[in-house]
Amino acid sequence: MMKWTFIVFLGSSLAVITLSWTYHYSNETMNWTEARRWCQTYYTDMVVIQSQIENDYLVSKLPNRDKSPYYWIGITKNHMNENWTWIGNNSTWVGEQSWAKNEPNNKHSTEFCVEIYVNGNQNRGKWNDDKCSLPKSPVCYKAQCNATSCGRGRCQDIMENITCHCEPGFKGDRCQTAMECPPLSQPDNGYLSCSGGNLTINSTCRFKCYPGFLIIGPPDVTCGVTGDWSGPRPVCTSYKQALFAVVGCGRSSALCCICFCWMKHKKRKELAHVRQPEEVTSPSTEAEG
Ligand SMILES: *[C@@H]1O[C@H](CO)[C@@H](O)[C@H](O)[C@H]1NC(C)=O
Ligand SMILES: *[C@@H]1O[C@H](CO)[C@@H](O)[C@H](O)[C@H]1NC(C)=O
Ligand SMILES: *[C@@H]1O[C@H](CO)[C@@H](O)[C@H](O)[C@H]1NC(C)=O
Ligand SMILES: *[C@@H]1O[C@H](CO)[C@@H](O)[C@H](O)[C@H]1NC(C)=O
Ligand SMILES: *[C@@H]1O[C@H](CO)[C@@H](O)[C@H](O)[C@H]1NC(C)=O
Ligand SMILES: *[C@@H]1O[C@H](CO)[C@@H](O)[C@H](O)[C@H]1NC(C)=O
Ligand SMILES: *[C@@H]1O[C@H](CO)[C@@H](O)[C@H](O)[C@H]1NC(C)=O
Ligand SMILES: *[C@@H]1O[C@H](CO)[C@@H](O)[C@H](O)[C@H]1NC(C)=O
Repeated sequence: MMKWTFIVFLGSSLAVITLSWTYHYSNETMNWTEARRWCQTYYTDMVVIQSQIENDYLVSKLPNRDKSPYYWIGITKNHMNENWTWIGNNSTWVGEQSWAKNEPNNKHSTEFCVEIYVNGNQNRGKWNDDKCSLPKSPVCYKAQCNATSCGRGRCQDIMENITCHCEPGFKGDRCQTAMECPPLSQPDNGYLSCSGGNLTINSTCRFKCYPGFLIIGPPDVTCGVTGDWSGPRPVCTSYKQALFAVVGCGRSSALCCICFCWMKHKKRKELAHVRQPEEVTSPSTEAEG
């Protein structure tokens, strides 16, 4: 994956810009608190690292230093016995190989902030706990998510890119596409009318039967967030058939039901239409239940 990288000079600070997610740092040094404030003032916040890949990528983007001070990163704790916690979302990711050898050592019991070594040595890219009051360079990130990044979804910044988490009923890289329910065909002996153009979430279709025919099943179906219709497609049946089914099945049930079902079945086979979604199984069950 090839990407263009630009180096931009902004006063005393330098910005390494890649498409989408961007990392920024200053050559000035400051204590951890000031460094974070600097990040929040000019960019989004101090850098948050959540994987080894991200760690390595960040290191590859920062200029080497020969010796301390190196760069502050956005992981800290308030007390000796607390877990290390990232700013922003309280993530406690620390990976397997992040710390330099014999770190964190909590020297003097006051080392609650973390620097990342960016040098040409063995410990390149490793972390060291240090006193928050020491002056080091801030490393910041600038979020690429904005209100319009993800049409109908929540935007999440990940290294170099954004990810959209779509609201129910929407899909696509940027949640730009509404999910559609499958098209419905006209019922036999009836007709269908649907709201709006495309059959997306919340669209409703109403089935009606021609005069002389009785609707079996709920007449309305709604397109749900998963792209499925809320219920089965109703069927239109003639009054004669319906009556026959009710009366017949009420009296000497089994035989007549089989008879009726066979008739329906035969009729369906004749009208070999594609039906979506499934039709109500049998009018006789409806009439009884
Ligand atoms: C530190 O994290 C571990 C694992 O996530 C958790 O079990 C433990 O309770 C945490 N300790 C403190 C002091 O928050
Ligand atoms: C992080 O934890 C602190 C202290 O427990 C809490 O006040 C804060 O709301 C949490 N922040 C997030 C984003 O969860
Ligand atoms: C915390 O935020 C970082 C950076 O925005 C993200 O990569 C990570 O997945 C988040 N972690 C949690 C537990 O939400
Ligand atoms: C960081 O510097 C500011 C301003 O000089 C100071 O008020 C603050 O106490 C310092 N914080 C630490 C942790 O040393
Ligand atoms: C919002 O972010 C998208 C990419 O996520 C970008 O294409 C668009 O230009 C940004 N809009 C504004 C107003 O910054
Ligand atoms: C960002 O991620 C999307 C979806 O994963 C991908 O299609 C796109 O090419 C990525 N953009 C960049 C700049 O890496
Ligand atoms: C309906 O869907 C088609 C193709 O999926 C799309 O091109 C069109 O813009 C959509 N119309 C509306 C009103 O959403
Ligand atoms: C669908 O309807 C529900 C309930 O009326 C509403 O909360 C939701 O925002 C609607 N969704 C869309 C995409 O119109």
